[in-house]
Parts: sequence; structure tokens; C-alpha cells
Amino acid sequence: MLKFHSVSKRFDDGTQALSTINLDIPKGQFCVLLGPSGAGKSTLLYMANGLVTSTTGQVEIDGKMLNRTNIKSIRQTVGMVHQQFNLTPRLSVAMNVLSGALPFVSYLRAAVMWYPRALRERACNLLAEVGLAPEHLSRRVSELSGGQQQRVGIARAFMLEPRLLLADEPVASLDPRVSREIMALLRDEAKRRGTTVVCSLHQPELAVEFADRIIALKGGKLVFDGSPDELVAAGLDGIYQLDAPKPTPANPALHVAPQILEALA
Ligand SMILES: Nc1ncnc2c1ncn2[C@@H]1O[C@H](COP(=O)(O)OP(=O)(O)O)[C@@H](O)[C@H]1O
Ligand SMILES: [Mg+2]
Repeated sequence: MLKFHSVSKRFDDGTQALSTINLDIPKGQFCVLLGPSGAGKSTLLYMANGLVTSTTGQVEIDGKMLNRTNIKSIRQTVGMVHQQFNLTPRLSVAMNVLSGALPFVSYLRAAVMWYPRALRERACNLLAEVGLAPEHLSRRVSELSGGQQQRVGIARAFMLEPRLLLADEPVASLDPRVSREIMALLRDEAKRRGTTVVCSLHQPELAVEFADRIIALKGGKLVFDGSPDELVAAGLDGIYQLDAPKPTPANPALHVAPQILEALA
């Protein structure tokens, strides 16, 4: 569904943010990106909606190579959830969710914040799905807690009925309990719709709990690509055993352990 074909990114100042990334993420997969700050997680995510363009290599979504001509239409099928929620604080919860449908609304209507009935109904349904009671609809988002704001952010991201959802550290500013709630919500909403998700996280334990697949980056290179079980096998052996078993070809997960541990340090 989402493919990276030998994608590299070198920014104008010479920073090599990504080097020769090859990935094939199938439809409906909940894929978590791990890696320390500066590993290239955000760069990789923003390449999947064309906000960052590759220096070499290509990004493919649903069989189409992203290019200048098709990026606008493809972007309409890609939802985004942000670390700092990126909501408009002075606007109501309902208006923030509706703004997720802006690409479908004429400029004039958007300017006066007039949305067709079908979209308003969809926004109400989504808010109920993400667990916000009707009395929240008219409240300003600035009055909500961080967890509630991210619920609004998730509802907004699903307004477009995206085929692909990109979440850049969506729980980085939330406490551990709320983080788990938000990850569960994101996963459930995506699974119900068959939406493919690529979500960057800092916490390996959340990745293990919620991901179908975990990809770790370090210094712009892919250092692990496997299941949560494989990460646990590799990671726990490395962390808790001073005499970790030598990697063998029969146990590829162990083979990557030192790299993962380094990557996640
Ligand atoms: N617009 C930019 N211009 C120059 N360098 C950048 C830009 N954006 C990111 N970088 C650099 O690219 C590398 C990867 O950054 P990023 O993708 O933000 O990592 P992560 O999200 O894993 O923290 C870092 O070294 C960062 O400083
Ligand atoms: Mg980042």
C-alpha cells in the first residue's frame, strides 16, 4: 500500500536524514517507527504525504509513484496526527474536527466555516467514536485536557476517510496512562476501517503493545524491521542477560539485537 523504493533524503544544509530506505507496508498494517531524536522518523513520515520530497528514490502509494502532479490528490487520502495536536485553540471542538474536511469544501464556504450537513454528521459521529460526549462539541479545544485534544486530533484525521494515516509521536506530550488510551483508540479506529497507519513513537513498550510491525531507524538507516515479539526477544536478551547468546542464522531477531539496543538508547 505504501512503499519506499531506495529513498534517501539529504537536506540543503547537507544533513543526510535518510539513506536508502526500502519498505513495503501492506494495507491495514499498524506500523510503528522507533528511533532516537534525529533518527529520521519525521522525515520518513512527511515523505509519505509529500511534505518532504526525496533526494533519490521514490515513494509509492496505492500503486502510484508520488510526483508533483498527483501529490495534491494523493494527500487527500492521507491523514495526519501530530504531537502537539495542531488544533486551532480558539475554535470549537466541532469546528476543529470539521476542518479535517477542508480539502473537500470550497474556499468560500471554508472561509465562513460553512460545512454541508453530511460532513457535520460525520464529525458528530466521529466525536462520539473517539469518546467525546456531545456537550464537548461547542467547547473551545483550549479548554480540553491533552488527551481530549488528541481525541479531537484523531477525529479530525479520520474526517477525510484516509487510506493512510501518519502519526508523528502522537502521545509524546501525554502521560503514560493517557498515552495508552490514545494508542488503543488510534489502533481501534484504524483497524475498524482497514486504514494503514505509520506512527512514530519514543516508547518501545507502547510499540510492542500496539504495533503489528516495528521499524527502527538510527542515523537515517533502517536498523530493525520485525514483529513486536522479535523486538522483545532481541531487546530483552540484550538488556537482561550479560552473556547474551551469540546470534545465529536460525535466530535472525537476535542477530539484530545490538543494533536495536543502540538505536533505542
Ligand atoms: N528541514 C530540515 N533541514 C535540515 N535538516 C533537517 C530538516 N528536518 C530535519 N532535519 C535533520 O534531519 C535529521 C532527521 O530529522 P527527523 O526526521 O526530524 O528525526 P526524528 O523525527 O527521528 O527526530 C536530523 O538530523 C534533523 O536535524
Ligand atoms: Mg520527529
